[in-house]
Amino acid sequence: MTREEARELIDRRRNELGERLIILGHHYQKDEVVEFCDVVGDSLELARKASQIEAAEIIVFCGVYFMAETASILAQDKAVYIPDPTAGCPLADMADIRRVMQAWEELSRIGKSFVPVTYVNSSAEIKAFCGRNSGTVCTSGNSQLIFEWALSHGETVFFMPDKNLGRNTAKMMGIPGEQIVQWDPDQARGGLTDDDIVRARVILWKGWCPVHWPEFAISDICSMRKQFPGIKIIVHPESDPETVEASDSAGSTAQILKYFRGLKPGDKVAVGTEFSMVKRAAKEYKSIIDIMALKGIYCEDMGKISLENLAATLTNLEGKEHRVVVPDSIVREAKKALDTMLRLSE
Ligand code: 13P
Ligand code: SF4
Repeated sequence: MTREEARELIDRRRNELGERLIILGHHYQKDEVVEFCDVVGDSLELARKASQIEAAEIIVFCGVYFMAETASILAQDKAVYIPDPTAGCPLADMADIRRVMQAWEELSRIGKSFVPVTYVNSSAEIKAFCGRNSGTVCTSGNSQLIFEWALSHGETVFFMPDKNLGRNTAKMMGIPGEQIVQWDPDQARGGLTDDDIVRARVILWKGWCPVHWPEFAISDICSMRKQFPGIKIIVHPESDPETVEASDSAGSTAQILKYFRGLKPGDKVAVGTEFSMVKRAAKEYKSIIDIMALKGIYCEDMGKISLENLAATLTNLEGKEHRVVVPDSIVREAKKALDTMLRLSE
């Protein structure tokens, strides 16, 4: 199928399906895919949108698998599809349910109350685990609010799987470094002593996003500042705390786009996040501000969604190939965790 044929097919199916279909897309999608999305957003906006859809009965999610899975959990009466089901998230894969439950069991032996919180970049099983244990979910756009809620419901937050987002959030809340510890699933008892756990207000699972860490580093920020004095720097909070500290701001993809809207004509800004989004914003704002990438790094998984597989999905809605199905037993508990997040972030 040529690109032109794919475009024609997508257009034809969109016209045929009309209001029965909604296409959701993440900001990291390629321009040619974004062009066909009815709604483009960050993880929080897309989860919220999925929970509010009324007219449509078919959701096609242009993003990575955990995002489509989240939409399916929040919109149980809709049929959810993803153009490439192999579009995963290496960060989400770093927290495997078996190891998380093992860690939870070990933590539970310490006489303290823990509240499990998972970053939305995680499997449906991990979200269900949080729902089952009176915990919740967060995104990079609401992590502080969610940590505050968790710490008002227990002594310690058990956060997975992104150590960087977790530490950035805890730091933002003023939690001292000695009360933030890391659970390394490759070590016995996470590599922590009882004292470490007793002292901790935040326990971080040792996971990271390979697009944001260690890719965006202080050295990149220093060379940008040297080359363009006065330049603003904004990074995604999946970057490490030192990089976030050396930047002017940090935020979710939607918050980064909002930051651009607050800049003055002629300002220069360097961005530490996925390159497809940065390139598109640079083009869009070309005549007003100068947006550049701290480094041009793509998320390969986000890039798996193409015009061709979007067209193939829309022409084969009867087949199982692109359909996202989450077992009912997982949906119930995962939805509980997600609903708590959405209620807190209203
Ligand atoms: P946002 O929620 O900021 O869109 O982030 C999603 C993500 O996967 C970033 O790597
Ligand atoms: Fe996952 Fe990182 Fe890609 Fe986001 S950018 S989907 S966290 S691998």
